[in-house]
Amino acid sequence: MAIWAYTAGMSERRIELVRGDITRLAVDAIVNAANTSLLGGGGVDGAIHRAAGPELVAECRMLHGCPTGQAKMTRGYRLPARHVIHTVGPVWNGGHRGEEALLASCYRNSLELARAHGLRTIAFPAISCGIYGYPIEAACAVAVRTISAFLAEDAAIERVVLVCFDEAVHDAYAAILADPGTSASVDAHARMLGCLLGAVVGDALGVPVEFRSREQLSADPVTGVRGHGTYNQPPGTWSDDSSLLLATADSLINHGYDPPDMMGRFLAWLKGQAYTPHGEVFDVGIATRSAIARYANGAPPEAWGPQRARQRQRLADADRPAGAVHPRADAGGDRPLQHGGQRADARAPALAAVLRVLLAAAGAGGAGLVTAKGDGAGVAAPGAVRARRGARRVERILDGSIVEAPASAIRGSGYVVHCLEASLWCAANHRSYEEAVLAAINLGEDTDTTASVTGALAGAMHGLAAIPEAWLRALASREYVETICARLVERIEAGRS
Ligand code: APR
Repeated sequence: MAIWAYTAGMSERRIELVRGDITRLAVDAIVNAANTSLLGGGGVDGAIHRAAGPELVAECRMLHGCPTGQAKMTRGYRLPARHVIHTVGPVWNGGHRGEEALLASCYRNSLELARAHGLRTIAFPAISCGIYGYPIEAACAVAVRTISAFLAEDAAIERVVLVCFDEAVHDAYAAILADPGTSASVDAHARMLGCLLGAVVGDALGVPVEFRSREQLSADPVTGVRGHGTYNQPPGTWSDDSSLLLATADSLINHGYDPPDMMGRFLAWLKGQAYTPHGEVFDVGIATRSAIARYANGAPPEAWGPQRARQRQRLADADRPAGAVHPRADAGGDRPLQHGGQRADARAPALAAVLRVLLAAAGAGGAGLVTAKGDGAGVAAPGAVRARRGARRVERILDGSIVEAPASAIRGSGYVVHCLEASLWCAANHRSYEEAVLAAINLGEDTDTTASVTGALAGAMHGLAAIPEAWLRALASREYVETICARLVERIEAGRS
């Protein structure tokens, strides 16, 4: 078997490319491209069951099947591999039914399972590239991006072997792995998805404890997914923060930057419960509700946001990924759609600039933010955001000193300056997505919003693989959210090529 070694750009781990039959590999686990019954089939599924012997199907029978995108593990029996990880790839349906997110889940969940069982070496066939008809180049790109992003956040898995049974798969992988842009595109793609999904996951984790005080949360800190609480919503429910993010994303996907279309979708959310996980709208901010009302009553765009500078508010544009930020944002000409006021004006471009720095800092992990912290260059990319009238309260953000502040000086209230300060502080002072989001939530007060903005920043810093799989699994309407996020990233990448 020809061995082709590739060093993943986001980590020094190795991905190996081999030609041949996966059933002959002596690794800790080989992955099976199974079907939801797990009772065997054709293709690599059939080959693995034949080589493993009848004990394999007997054990599989006790697993009671496996949903698409998930993974389950058995022993390897007569195979040289110790274990078989059975995962079910998506059937290709044209690419607009969440296939990419589901295929990425197959690779991520298989790697999670291997890591959870202390396995060090794992081999994958080209999942969904046979009977399920996924276009080979696209499927191989998803595999490399997902595996590289996972390895960038993981020290346990030592070797991932991509097994090519036929020429077309091998050529596709070889071209992707040989492309110097792969690691950068892996980084950027993983970071953009991490930014968007990171915001929604952070929101969902914060919803149950919104308005709890810091004292209450220090006595009973959030350490993972909870349910019910403030709004009595089931675990994984996300709030208006994510509904508006998804509405904005959907608008950008279909219309580019088109404020009237965005506001039309916000109205559909407020009045028609569009972009909600359970058909219910809750926790609507005063500024948001009145801005949408002004739009609905025919006010011109410049009159949608409240004009009063003292209006307590939070960022609307925090929900837009940097890649989609309108050029005018840097010039301060892009008033946030729902929140007027001078401080909101200063905040939106500041956050967009920080996200742009992080998304551009390919391969630098959190360095983008830490560098800003270190050299005082200002958390926002220097020159990307001009401090303007009304930006007086944001100098700690613009000069980067906020990340050095003591925890006692950080608040999680719904006030826009507190929200952005807290989010930057949590993202810059914690090593992982998980730690940053939990720190944001346990600040108390407007927990869902602070965790959503922190999740966007931390997701942009650490990439999609850094979001705990258990938190993604718990997300309400996960496939719906992943599909919109993946389509927006696709649109941004298409716009860049
Ligand atoms: N070793 C490595 N790769 C193999 C092997 C093998 N022995 N046999 C086939 N492959 C390759 C195929 O060439 C293809 O590139 O595995 C890839 C996946 O093809 P399939 O096995 O058809 O899997 P998939 O497209 O995911 O369809 C799954 O097919 O086998 C059934 O029960 C399975 O219903 C499920 C469906």
